[in-house]
Amino acid sequence: MPFDMELEARLRPPEFPMVPYPPKVITLANGKPMVVREITREDVPRVLEAVRPIMTYERDYYDIVAARVYAELLAWYRYREQAEFCLIAQIEGMLVGLVNSRMYTPKIGMSLHTLTIDRGLRVGSHMFAAKMEHHIEYLKQDEVWIVAESPIGFRRWMIEYGLEPTDIPHELGGAPSYRLSKELYYATKDRLVVGDRPVPKELLDKALEEIIVVDEKTVAQKICGVKGR
Ligand SMILES: CC(C)(COP(=O)(O)OP(=O)(O)OC[C@H]1O[C@@H](n2cnc3c(N)ncnc32)[C@H](O)[C@@H]1OP(=O)(O)O)[C@@H](O)C(=O)NCCC(=O)NCCS
Repeated sequence: MPFDMELEARLRPPEFPMVPYPPKVITLANGKPMVVREITREDVPRVLEAVRPIMTYERDYYDIVAARVYAELLAWYRYREQAEFCLIAQIEGMLVGLVNSRMYTPKIGMSLHTLTIDRGLRVGSHMFAAKMEHHIEYLKQDEVWIVAESPIGFRRWMIEYGLEPTDIPHELGGAPSYRLSKELYYATKDRLVVGDRPVPKELLDKALEEIIVVDEKTVAQKICGVKGR
């Protein structure tokens, strides 16, 4: 059957115009430079390869977070999610973390997920900060709605930022959202948002050249801190 573009157009959610996130480099506590950059829709299949094996680890709620990230990125790729963006973290090209999010309205951001593979370096914390930076500073939104699916997430976002509880159901399962307002973002920015721009050319070129996906055994070691499973 020929592809029905007229029907397809009805199935696709309307989009908001979105400015790109300018890449930055963060020097981690171990001295390694980590490039944070936005991916395009075309990069999604590669990133899904990295997310797929993570869905099997119950530890620290990696399974539910990875399963939801997988579905959301696939939905973006197949034009079934509105105004989504995804930032990835790479060390020497290797994918070590990601965040995704979307514009709920032009002024309100709906924070989706944060996931890190390389642990103990606050990669996830830096990526969440980059996501908030994009919502507030580049997409020029007034506030972001956030929930945590794991105790580590709760410590990292609700406690470290002092997010404001609300009774607004979040689209990730309906739990009440916490709010990061523009004012709270700027009050916490000096403490939590780091990174330098522009990214030196050779670092950015390496990141753009290929998204290197960690093999499954290394994923197990990095997530669980043990050899194998
Ligand atoms: C939440 C998350 C993004 C935070 O990432 P992060 O800031 O880089 O933090 P880490 O995961 O490295 O470390 C968090 C805690 O895990 C523990 N930890 C650190 N290194 C670890 C390792 N190698 N193995 C296991 N646990 C480790 C520590 O207790 C650490 O807490 P502390 O740094 O406050 O003392 C990350 O833990 C993650 O991807 N979790 C699974 C998905 C998830 O929960 N996402 C957030 C949903 S709201």
